[in-house]
Order: sequence, then C-alpha cells, then structure tokens
Amino acid sequence: MTREQHGVSAVGAGFDRSAATYQDAVAHNRIGARRLVEGMPTGDYRAIVDVGCGTGFASFEMIHSRGTRRVIGVDASPAMMEVFRAAAEDMPEVSVDLRVGDASALPVDDASVDAAVSTMAFHWFPDKAAALSEMARCVRPGGVVAVLTAGRGTDGELLDVMRAMDPPVPAAWTGVFEHIHRDVREMHGLLRGAGLEPLDVWSETRWRTAPVDAYMARLQTVASHLSSDLPPEEAAAHGQRLGDALAAASGPDGFAYSFVKLFAVARRPG
Ligand SMILES: C[S@@+](CC[C@H](N)C(=O)[O-])C[C@H]1O[C@@H](n2cnc3c(N)ncnc32)[C@H](O)[C@@H]1O
Repeated sequence: MTREQHGVSAVGAGFDRSAATYQDAVAHNRIGARRLVEGMPTGDYRAIVDVGCGTGFASFEMIHSRGTRRVIGVDASPAMMEVFRAAAEDMPEVSVDLRVGDASALPVDDASVDAAVSTMAFHWFPDKAAALSEMARCVRPGGVVAVLTAGRGTDGELLDVMRAMDPPVPAAWTGVFEHIHRDVREMHGLLRGAGLEPLDVWSETRWRTAPVDAYMARLQTVASHLSSDLPPEEAAAHGQRLGDALAAASGPDGFAYSFVKLFAVARRPG
C-alpha cells in the first residue's frame, strides 16, 4: 500500500528523503530507545507494534533485550522501513511485518500485541491523543505502551535565533515548536485520556554543542517536510541564512542547544 492511500502527511515524504543517512545522523536515538526499553516493567513482550518505527531502533532493542519475536512496524515512510527490512533479514527467528500507515489509525487488530512502543516519532504525530488511543487499543489488557518523544525545550536556542532573524524564516519553521513538544504533565494527561495507567513519565535534558554543519544536517534529516511547500531554491536560501545566524550565535565548539527527551511508560488496565 502506498502512503497516499493512507493519507499520511508530508512528514513521511520528508523521511523518505532522509532514510539513507538517517542512522548516522541521529545516533542518539538508538541510545534513547535503549533507555525507554530499560524503563519498561518486566513482562511478556513477544509481540509488539512499533509506531513510527522508522529504521527500527525501538524494535531492535525489544528483540535483543525483551525477547520480542513478532514485530509489526507502522510508519509513514516506506523508505525508512526499507532500511529496517534490510537490517531484519539477519534475524530469521523474528517475524517483522512492516506496514505503511498513520499513527492515528493503526492497521493493527485490537488487543493483538503485548506492547506498543514508539521512539522519537510521537512529536510528529498531528493528533497525539488519537495516536495514544490507538496504541492502547492494540495492546492486550495488561499490556504496555511506551513512548519516547522530544519534550518541551528541545532546540529552544534554535527557536530564539530564528525569532530574531529579519527577514524572518518561514512561519512553519518557528510555528511547529508549539505543536510538537509536550512536557511530563501534559504527557501524563494524554496517557490518562487514552485510558492508560501511567507507570513512569520522566524527562532528561541534555546540553549539547555541535558544529553548525552537523546541527543543520540533523535538522534536514528530521524536519525537511517543514519546507515541502517551498520552492527548493527558496528553502535553500532560508537554510543558508539560518546557518549564518547559527554560526554568529556559536562559540568555539559550535552551536549549543538543549535536547529534552520525554519518556512515558503506561499500562492498559487488565
Ligand atoms: C525521527 S523518525 C524516528 C524513527 C525511529 N522510531 C527512531 O527511533 O529512530 C520519525 C518517524 O516517524 C514517522 N512518522 C511521522 N509521522 C507519522 C505518522 N503520523 N504516522 C506514522 N509514522 C509517522 C516518520 O516517517 C519517521 O520514520
């Protein structure tokens, strides 16, 4: 099935473009997936759904450390899932079933898996309440929903730089922040709203410094869809100006920025 048949947004097309370089550009995501999985309670996790699975970081953690043997991966980007499919070929003992789909209408049967996991994708889901309700629907009673997402404050220094730019950058580049990030309290409320019992909700704030080129490369990898309405040369010109502004705001080690990881582990009542 194609992404168009599912009506999944431009986000998937953006990640199609990033798929080949994704693994290296966001190596931190692999560590985040490990920390989320470590935070899940002991239990039977033979069958899972990985929502916004991308190249499979969360699934591989579940396979290696929680005995998962059946994975349904759902993602808006076929190209990201191709990377996942190729990596899974070395594991004939694991059934990996990858499906193009939207987080707010998961192509997964009711109560058919032991856990729903989702790493570094939830912030891109436009309807977060629907996505959590869908994850809750797919897990069996007593099953676990575990989400890692970007929390409020992530890249706040970038937002400050962009807000000070004149002429301004495209409104989508600054406006997106409010839509994507949540904090621990908001996540708690979302879990409860989906009928889930929160077990642990926590955040970690990291302060990182990166050369501007590397920082811009990460933005391009994870957020190119925010420029999909612009002619490519116009997007490139805005990107060049942003790079210059970030360089001007940088110290000797590069651009310093915050990265907030928000973790949530919850249970579907038995
Ligand atoms: C930053 S990647 C994260 C991939 C992987 N889970 C990881 O931890 O590295 C975000 C993924 O979410 C997918 N995605 C974004 N919005 C989606 C939606 N509404 N439904 C399904 N997948 C979506 C993208 O296509 C992309 O593969």
